[in-house]
Amino acid sequence: MLSLTRLNRVRSMDAVNDTMIVEAGDTLLQAREQARAEGRVFPLQIGSQGSCQIGGNPSTNAGGTTVVRYGNMRDLVLGVEVVLPDGDVWDGLRALRKDNTGYDLKHLFIGGEGTLGIVTAAVLKLFPKPRSVTTAFLGFRSPDSALAFFTLLRQRVGQDVAAFELISSTALDLVLAHLATARSPLSLRAPWYVLVELASSRTPEDLENDFHEVMQEGLEDGSILDAAVAAAEAHAMAFWRIREEISDAQTRAGGSVRCDISVPLSKIPAFIEEACASVLKIAPDSRMVIYGHVGDGNVHFNPLRPVFESAADYLQRTSTAITTSVDAIAMAMNGSISAEHGVGVAKRDELLHVKSRVELEMAWRLKQAFDPKNLMNPGKFLPRLECVEALKS
Ligand code: LAC
Ligand code: ZN
Repeated sequence: MLSLTRLNRVRSMDAVNDTMIVEAGDTLLQAREQARAEGRVFPLQIGSQGSCQIGGNPSTNAGGTTVVRYGNMRDLVLGVEVVLPDGDVWDGLRALRKDNTGYDLKHLFIGGEGTLGIVTAAVLKLFPKPRSVTTAFLGFRSPDSALAFFTLLRQRVGQDVAAFELISSTALDLVLAHLATARSPLSLRAPWYVLVELASSRTPEDLENDFHEVMQEGLEDGSILDAAVAAAEAHAMAFWRIREEISDAQTRAGGSVRCDISVPLSKIPAFIEEACASVLKIAPDSRMVIYGHVGDGNVHFNPLRPVFESAADYLQRTSTAITTSVDAIAMAMNGSISAEHGVGVAKRDELLHVKSRVELEMAWRLKQAFDPKNLMNPGKFLPRLECVEALKS
């Protein structure tokens, strides 16, 4: 075990270049605040921001709620400093947006789950602070109508869409049951909700006018059932609190099978429909806690035990069958079985079914070249070499 907590300085800030160099032990929240103090935004936003660290964010290629606008960590890091398994230190802290000088080696460490080296510092990309932000909570009939609204919104306000989060009514109910202070933002119940945030360099009036126009269209053609626009920052924070509490509410309820899939956006409604049908065949009383970053194609599809069954019984009875079936549905749609949570140990052996021998062998060749003694995070992400080789036959 290695803790980098004390390696937590901001080494430098270049507001003109829109970059800062931060050491691995700084928390994401601190880094965001340090950027904000310079009038800049570091846009990565994940629920664990108060505890997760800047070294882990690239190593796990963290995603979260702003990927639709800013990309994931792979898009937000310009350079890394890495300690290699043999003790060498690679100073790859280049703060360049263009650098075509051969292999872009930083990408081996971004999303590498610590298997090739340890990230000790990173060059983070910063952005101007938006002049105006609009946050709204919308009710929809179906994922289909939510997606149609997303497409319309992108046509009208383009890059201003900073987050577009889908929430099933079951997921909202779970948060309301677990969080005494939470209230549904809408007076009408809807089967699906969306938390949308727009962030813009335009004036608040311009942004609000455009948003109201699009929303009016959605309300008139019946795709939006109900809407609440945050009138103050406190409202927006209350909307976000609901979204960010879903995962914890599930943990407290116990007994969730957590699938973190992605599919092309156009396939999201079909994925949700097929996956729900399949789960309800396996375990008819499951509660369908479904939510996620639909603006980027990532759905957290997390069936929860029925109220009358214990967590242990439910997981024992359904976990493997549900995971296998949901992941197969995502794969049949050219999706991924791990959109943002990574592989680790839990999904390692599943890679044998979703990646080709060629791809897994390339990964092993890299591992052996960088870390022949298997010192770095052994056992994570790469299925055992014998199993990969067995794919030959
Ligand atoms: C979220 C975590 C579970 O989106 O990825 O809340
Ligand atoms: Zn997520």
